[in-house]
Amino acid sequence: MTDKYAVIGNPISHSKSPFIHSMFAQQTNQDISYEAIEAPLDGFADTIARLRAEGYKGCNVTVPFKFEAFKLATQRSGRANDANAVNTLIFEGNEILGDNTDGVGLLADIEKNVQYKLFLKDALILGAGGAAAGVMWPLFNAGVGIIVANRTLEKAQALAADFEGAGTVYAKRYEDLEGLSFDIVINATSSGLSDELPPLPDGLFKRGSLAYDMMYGKETPFLKFARAQGASVISDGLGMLVEQAATSFALWRKVRPDTKPVLEALRAL
Ligand code: ATR
Repeated sequence: MTDKYAVIGNPISHSKSPFIHSMFAQQTNQDISYEAIEAPLDGFADTIARLRAEGYKGCNVTVPFKFEAFKLATQRSGRANDANAVNTLIFEGNEILGDNTDGVGLLADIEKNVQYKLFLKDALILGAGGAAAGVMWPLFNAGVGIIVANRTLEKAQALAADFEGAGTVYAKRYEDLEGLSFDIVINATSSGLSDELPPLPDGLFKRGSLAYDMMYGKETPFLKFARAQGASVISDGLGMLVEQAATSFALWRKVRPDTKPVLEALRAL
C-alpha cells in the first residue's frame, strides 16, 4: 500500500518538496505519495488531525507553522528542542514525533555540496527569526564561532542567551559590524522576499569567505552584495532544501537517498 506524506505551509503552492520527495522515492524504490497542503493560518492543528485520521505516516512543516508543530509534537528530538521548532513530523500510533532537519541540512549542504569546511571558522548570522534559530546550534556544534546580528537587537540577544554556559555567541546590531570580518556570512533574514538587504558595512568578507543565503530561487540583494564585496564562495539555499528533505525522508523510510541528482535536476529546471 502507498504510504502518504505531505508538506504543510501557508503559502505552499510553489513548494519544491513534492518534486524532491518523488525523486527520492523513485531512486530508493519506496512506494509513497507526497503532496503540498496549504493549511489555513488558524488551522494547522486541525489539518494535522485530519492527516492522522486519514492514515498519513508523517509530514514536513514549513513557514509559518514550525513553532506550532513543535508544540503539537508529543515527543521531540534534541535537534527540535535546540531549534525550538519542528519541520518533520512522524505519526506513530498515538504519538506525534517531532524533529528538525534544517540545521543538519545546512551543514550537509555547506560541507558536501558547497565543499566548504566549517570547523574553526567564524560566522556572522544575519537575522534572529525562526530560520536563524534553526541553524545556530548545529553550526555551533560544528565548531563555528558565531555572531548573530539583527535589526531588532533584543531578538538576537535572546538567541545568544541560549548559549550561555556552552560558549559565547555575541549579539549585535548591523551598525555594530563596522570593522569586523568573517569566514562565513549567512543570510537568515527574510529580507530577500522584499528584495531588500540589511544595512551591512563594507569589508565583512574575509579572503576565501563563504556567503550563504538560506533563500533560493533568485539572486537576492544579499548575494549580489556578497559578490560585489569579494566573497569567494557564494551559495543560495537550494542545497539546504534538498538536504533537509533527505534527512526527513531517511527518518520516515529508513533509507537515505542520494541528493546530488536531485539538486542537479532542480538547478536544471
Ligand atoms: P523566518 O522564519 O523566515 O526567520 P521570522 O521569524 O519572521 O521569519 O524572522 C524574519 C527575520 O528577518 C528577522 O530577523 C527580521 O528582523 P527583525 O527581527 O528585526 O524584524 C529579518 N528581516 C525581515 N525583513 C528584513 C529587512 N528588510 N531588513 C533586515 N532584516 C529583515
